[in-house]
Amino acid sequence: MPVDLKAIFNVDDATVAEANDILRPYDKLVPIIIEGNQVMLPENNSLWRGMQFWGLMTGEISIDFSLFCIAGTCKNCKSRIKRPGEEGRLSMLACQTMATEGLEIVRLPMGFTYRKKSY
Ligand code: FES
Repeated sequence: MPVDLKAIFNVDDATVAEANDILRPYDKLVPIIIEGNQVMLPENNSLWRGMQFWGLMTGEISIDFSLFCIAGTCKNCKSRIKRPGEEGRLSMLACQTMATEGLEIVRLPMGFTYRKKSY
């Protein structure tokens, strides 16, 4: 059963269609921590696309698209990431790292801005 983005995020059909255009098929959203804040990103998709998705759904993340190749070559999306159960932090490319439950992006690269909304 597909995730009902309209119901969860209170977005319109055009926004759902835009999200579906940028994402690979997924069955659920998984919790990820970004700079101390929990977001829910689609599994089976990269962190990069997941953050784009979260920006579409909530407006909390904005991206300077001119800085990124989304293909693993520019390296501009290198992020400090902590995997669940591990102490160390790794430098990983957000566009080449799958969103998996419990991952923590300790620091976003330049070009991504996270602004928590107050509800
Ligand atoms: S966006 Fe270019 S390497 Fe990730």
